[in-house]
Amino acid sequence: MKRRNFIFDIFSIGLMSSLTTRLKAKTFNITPMVRSISTWKTTEANLKAGVMLDQGIDGLTAAVAGVAIEEENPKNTTVGFGGAPDRTGSVTLDACVMNHLGDCGSVVAVENIVNVAKLARDVMEKTPHVMLAGKGAEEFGVSEGYEKINLLTEASKNEWKKWLENEEYKPLINIENHDTIGMLCLDKDNNMSGACTTSGLAYKMKGRVGDSPIIGSGLFIDNKIGGAVATGLGEEVVKTVGSFLVVELMRQGMSPQEACENAVNRIVSSNSQKNKFQVAYIAMNKNGEVGSFSIEPGFTYMDYVNGKNEEIKTGSAL
Ligand code: GLY
Repeated sequence: MKRRNFIFDIFSIGLMSSLTTRLKAKTFNITPMVRSISTWKTTEANLKAGVMLDQGIDGLTAAVAGVAIEEENPKNTTVGFGGAPDRTGSVTLDACVMNHLGDCGSVVAVENIVNVAKLARDVMEKTPHVMLAGKGAEEFGVSEGYEKINLLTEASKNEWKKWLENEEYKPLINIENHDTIGMLCLDKDNNMSGACTTSGLAYKMKGRVGDSPIIGSGLFIDNKIGGAVATGLGEEVVKTVGSFLVVELMRQGMSPQEACENAVNRIVSSNSQKNKFQVAYIAMNKNGEVGSFSIEPGFTYMDYVNGKNEEIKTGSAL
């Protein structure tokens, strides 16, 4: 073999093998059955979780890491650091997680800790309890090494001061297009897990807790059937145990889409104030089929499947 051909051959073999490795790596990493969905336009959060699922990481770890992106985002005023405070100026966070075994953990009205979904996971895995509230949750977090930080940003403080001028309390529909982030992750072992995290309603009464940390309301998973998460006005979700309802409707044979529509209509049909607030559900079954529905138009969710992360518009009751 001439030297030139030899070099060319070596080069092509090298190129081919690196190309094959990359192609193989891509094929290997993307498992068609993994899927991640999350409420609102939480693009980076859902991408983070979806890519982790493609890498073979379990659903709970992916969901907690995904929602952490929004918990740490100071521009998201309804979740984590930078979340709007209650009427007294304190930022209090709620979160829960649930895994494919039916284990769950929750934290309620926690101050000074950013990653409350992770803290909820720690409650689930490191304590004999399901739910920790307030100071107890915060102290547990500190004992686990979480950093204490002031969650009230200058921007949130200024908005709160403006609100104090009138102290008008009403839920704002689709405010800045994000409220609670709820996420469902179906992993390579066909196991589903989820996480839900929020700072709750802006300027809520001190001590108010919504649906997000309540298993069955903000989030529910039954690994034989599928899972659901809720966003919007927590009081209305709690009244119908919304996420549990969606999963139970899927158990009875409904598709995720039919189940979400049915659960939203359950609220709408009995509520004279129905045009004054938003509630939305997203759901996924064990086949990886998804659905979503909201009361008011304007709700979207993120869907990561087959390596693509897309924002999906949903239908609405009104
Ligand atoms: N869905 C969030 C809350 O009502 O607190």
